[in-house]
Amino acid sequence: MTKKGKLIGIGVGPGDTELLTLKAAKVLETVPVIFSPKSSKEKESIALSIVRPIIKKRKDYKRLMIVEPIFPMIENKEELEKVWTSASEMIAQYLNSGRDVAFITLGDSSIFSTYSYVQKKLKGQYEIETIPGITSFTACAATRNEALVEQNDILTIVPKIDERLEEVLEYSNSIVLMKASRNTSKLESTIEENDRPKEIYSVQNCTRENEKIIEGFSHEKPYLTTTIIKFEND
Ligand SMILES: C[S@@+](CC[C@H](N)C(=O)[O-])C[C@H]1O[C@@H](n2cnc3c(N)ncnc32)[C@H](O)[C@@H]1O
Repeated sequence: MTKKGKLIGIGVGPGDTELLTLKAAKVLETVPVIFSPKSSKEKESIALSIVRPIIKKRKDYKRLMIVEPIFPMIENKEELEKVWTSASEMIAQYLNSGRDVAFITLGDSSIFSTYSYVQKKLKGQYEIETIPGITSFTACAATRNEALVEQNDILTIVPKIDERLEEVLEYSNSIVLMKASRNTSKLESTIEENDRPKEIYSVQNCTRENEKIIEGFSHEKPYLTTTIIKFEND
């Protein structure tokens, strides 16, 4: 019987290829199949663009199997479930044929990553290894040469500001607002107008060619925008 392949989840970091871990680069130099989801047919997968300089050096580059399934940016749970099931089935076919599959994902694979859903579906049936990556928000803080949290500070990671905002503002010393393009200016003003002294900055396309640091919230919001709010300690 053919030995099943291994699923390797790889966090490829925020954008700069040099921020890939040595471990990730080593796998990408030899793995036979790379799975790299993207949000639409027209758009290039950001994760794939990050690893391209590494895989391009491979002698077998032209024969390397790169699979780019479409994972649309939708919130409908049933539709998402269908997408994840079909991606998991596709990956299972490669694994059943004995080939290892690297599932590449932007930033770190444990932070709002599609990898986690696929990994859950395949858990128990296949060997799985997850290689962490540098997450976008620590890269954003590094770009600014600033700490995110110190001493007993509480860091809150927010994927969308909604009705939980009041409690988030009360208990956090620092807040990372991810997927910032989904936030409304009304909710942003609520944060700005909060009494506690604070610093707010946004980073667009951190560590990528078009990186931009903006004081406060960013009005134009490319998909790769993260806002960091740091409250002053008493
Ligand atoms: C689906 S989440 C993926 C997060 C990723 N797994 C991580 O560890 O950073 C996408 C969000 O991450 C943030 N993000 C990812 N890469 C970024 C970058 N290079 N610059 C700024 N924000 C980034 C943005 O807030 C974006 O909307």
